[in-house]
Amino acid sequence: MASFRKQKLWGAVFAAGAVAATGVVWADIGENRSLIVNGEIEMIVEAPAPEHVEGLSTIYSGWVFRSPETQMMQADDFDNPAMLDVDTARETFETAMGTEGQSCASCHDTPESLSTVRATYPQWDEEHGEVQTVEMQITECMTERMGAEAYGYDSAEMRRMSALISAVGRGEVVNVAIDGPAQSTWEQGQEIYYTRYGQLELSCANCHEQNYGNLIRADHLSQGQVNGFPTYRLRNSGLVSIHNRFRGCIRDTRGETFAVGSPEFVALELYVASRGNGLTVEGPAVRN
Ligand code: HEC
Ligand code: HEC
Repeated sequence: MASFRKQKLWGAVFAAGAVAATGVVWADIGENRSLIVNGEIEMIVEAPAPEHVEGLSTIYSGWVFRSPETQMMQADDFDNPAMLDVDTARETFETAMGTEGQSCASCHDTPESLSTVRATYPQWDEEHGEVQTVEMQITECMTERMGAEAYGYDSAEMRRMSALISAVGRGEVVNVAIDGPAQSTWEQGQEIYYTRYGQLELSCANCHEQNYGNLIRADHLSQGQVNGFPTYRLRNSGLVSIHNRFRGCIRDTRGETFAVGSPEFVALELYVASRGNGLTVEGPAVRN
């Protein structure tokens, strides 16, 4: 893309008066590189990029790019508003649902027994012959094992349960498998990541690989990592799922977006999650 044309496109994205794409403010942010949650869970917010990510040498958690006030809220569960949702999900975990009269706890004992899940999902599911997200796995347990009605993929109940699965996995190092049977799905996700969408003709990489650290509207662009999901967004006063975030980002390019829970977004999630291999699980993280 000619630089003039690119500038015009960026002009449509950056609010008037905001720092232009070249106004690097990385020096002002990214100062806080140490996150220890509740004084005990040590997070890796900066790590060497995995080999399969050619466009980056270092990966950063989205936490690094947030304001000190927002960062602080994530450092202590008493200040993290998402922990109320996590507590609600803990109760649900022990509540019998569906025709089998079982709760999640009937089979999984405690949420903590699922502590390795978030760091390794999306993951290939042999029985169904597909890559599954955490939400798909929860749906499988509810519909195929409990005789319960599935939560909507992006419902409040699902986001809470997903946040619980993240919360008990905090501090685990993200290590999503991209080879073997998951490889073709991963490749599909990679292709989507580098495809330019919408009237603005912007790919995920244009923003999150080439311009992280820059200001866009009032936000510091991060690398678009998913290790902090579901995230609690202060502006929504609630949890936001990974696919909902993807949808919002594509919509911002004025493009047609894929549906939440669609095979395209599952593939994209696998690919994006793998770009965070080496960071730690931080969800539910706090964002503006
Ligand atoms: C009747 C027993 C049963 C119940 C009840 C049940 N599960 Fe499961 N769950 C399983 C089995 C068996 C697996 C492993 C199957 C697989 O890997 O596909 C599993 C796998 C999972 C996994 C992935 C674990 C991993 O290591 O990959 C998650 C997350 C999960 N369940 C969440 C839940 C939640 C949340 C509930 C309640 C809404 C629930 N399950 C209810 C039997 C159950
Ligand atoms: C026009 C620029 C732009 C494009 C294109 C874009 N995003 Fe974003 N994205 C943003 C902004 C701005 C935010 C909010 C600030 C931040 O966290 O980077 C964001 C946030 C995110 C986040 C949340 C990160 C966190 O730590 O909370 C994820 C994940 C994400 N984007 C993924 C994607 C994916 C995948 C694509 C491609 C489908 C994409 N984005 C395309 C601008 C963009």
